[in-house]
Amino acid sequence: MEINYQYIDIPNYNKIKNEIYDKINVLYPNVTSLFEWQPTNSLVPTEVNELIENFGAQIRGCCVNCTTNSRSPIHVDTGKYHYSLNLPIANCEKTFIKFYHTQREPQLIKTTNVQYWGFNDEDVDVLENIETNKPLIVNTKVAHSFESFQIKPRIMLLIRFEPGWNLENICY
Ligand SMILES: [Fe+2]
Repeated sequence: MEINYQYIDIPNYNKIKNEIYDKINVLYPNVTSLFEWQPTNSLVPTEVNELIENFGAQIRGCCVNCTTNSRSPIHVDTGKYHYSLNLPIANCEKTFIKFYHTQREPQLIKTTNVQYWGFNDEDVDVLENIETNKPLIVNTKVAHSFESFQIKPRIMLLIRFEPGWNLENICY
């Protein structure tokens, strides 16, 4: 069976989180809504880089995601990567990722400013609802959605892995 997610233990994570927060705050002060790929991996701290190398994975890209009081559509991620290490940076308590089971193929959904591979609510069943308050590797090719009903902006750093790696490599 495919593994949907795995919490990851990162030593000294609070310190690491604060350092990332400070950098994001310089790049995007007072941000409330954002999905921005970073041109370099400079937001990925050395410790996290080493951890990913120890997993036998490689970083494909890195993205700052900020949402405020919202729910994403049910979707699978676009792009060649399969896994994302999601680092909670700010206001991630009581925010969640839901994984879904579905028999349907995703449909390309286009709105005025975004397009994504999505599903209708009636075509899926909820498998799991996971709090995103700790570092987490997510299988982005399983149907999922994010929820944050925090009034303060929820900031996540999304670190995408090169394809070919499998989460089963680190789950026993
Ligand atoms: Fe996603």
